[in-house]
Amino acid sequence: MKKITAAITGVGGYLPEYILDNEELSRMVDTSDEWIMTRIGIKTRHILKGEGKGTSSMAAKAVKDLLEKTGTDPMEVDLVICSTVTPDMLFPSTANLVADKAGMKNAFAFDLSAACSGFLFGLQTAATYIESGRCKKVVLIGADKMSSIIDYEDRTTCPIFGDGAGAVLLEPSKEGVGVLDSILHSDGSGAKHLYQKAGGSAYPATHETVDKKWHFVHQEGQPVFKAAVSHMADTAVELMERNHLTSEDIRFLVPHQANLRIIDATAARMGLTRDKCMINIECYGNTTAATLPLCLWDYESRLKKGDNLVLAAFGGGFTWGALYLKWAYDGATMTKG
Ligand code: UT7
Repeated sequence: MKKITAAITGVGGYLPEYILDNEELSRMVDTSDEWIMTRIGIKTRHILKGEGKGTSSMAAKAVKDLLEKTGTDPMEVDLVICSTVTPDMLFPSTANLVADKAGMKNAFAFDLSAACSGFLFGLQTAATYIESGRCKKVVLIGADKMSSIIDYEDRTTCPIFGDGAGAVLLEPSKEGVGVLDSILHSDGSGAKHLYQKAGGSAYPATHETVDKKWHFVHQEGQPVFKAAVSHMADTAVELMERNHLTSEDIRFLVPHQANLRIIDATAARMGLTRDKCMINIECYGNTTAATLPLCLWDYESRLKKGDNLVLAAFGGGFTWGALYLKWAYDGATMTKG
């Protein structure tokens, strides 16, 4: 009997309307388009505006796009996972709110927190539910409203991040396509280099935590940069080797969009040229858990059934990994048989 694998059978996405470009940022903090483009590679990022609007509002739009495109009845979805570090609230989970907003009333739902590696960790988690036979249709979301935890007076972090949401549908396949392998890692000793100090149980919100700006992202760029380059590349190369993949075999690297220099370094170690990398950092910035599904969303029309993709990410925690995926359909939408 052929092995059951978890295939991605559709992709949806959503980006908020408001665009914050480098010119506007240069009027807010001491920075320039030249510095941001040279050091990071970002020109614009989308920002969610509107009182009371959280990550779930973007995620629900991405999921509606996904369900419409794939012709999926929301009531058939078994499980909803939302990877995010900017949930609407600490509880209930954002996945729960999205399941309600998109009419996925028969699904159980939970959030997954692995920062910029959230979608990658979520993809392996979702795949395991499918492979075990426990679920037939899983919606996996990567969504973050990073603007809610960014200090727009801190020039070392505010140019980097943007808001957005992406979602994929996973279903069982016996055709040898879908999630085929992954290598995932965590190292909590990296927490000191990239974190949001307050708002959890260690430092609940007080006047002091607000005054000290502890509810914003704190990042020491250089140690994170070094760890990202070495870990993303090492893991991706290890994954290639153990699956006997050469650079010619790979159609696209799908890298986390944190810094164009990190993407280039990872691709170089894998022997890939830039045209084999999915890149949209210039337009969206780093949308944390949303970068990987938004790449798939943007490049979906260029993908063919059987294409080999390697997804790779690195993020706060530290968390990192790589995943080998064989694409399941041609073009923009899977044709339902
Ligand atoms: O997605 C989660 C994982 N995160 C990452 O992967 C991010 C990894 N880190 C990075 O991408 C880079 O370290 C940054 C983009 C954050 C920073 O780039 P960098 O090349 O490492 O710059 P740096 O921190 O070494 O700073 C170089 C200089 C400093 O000035 P001095 O000390 O040399 O005079 C900074 O003060 O650039 C200055 N600087 C800026 N200048 C203009 C820092 N931010 C800015 C800015 N505009 N926005």
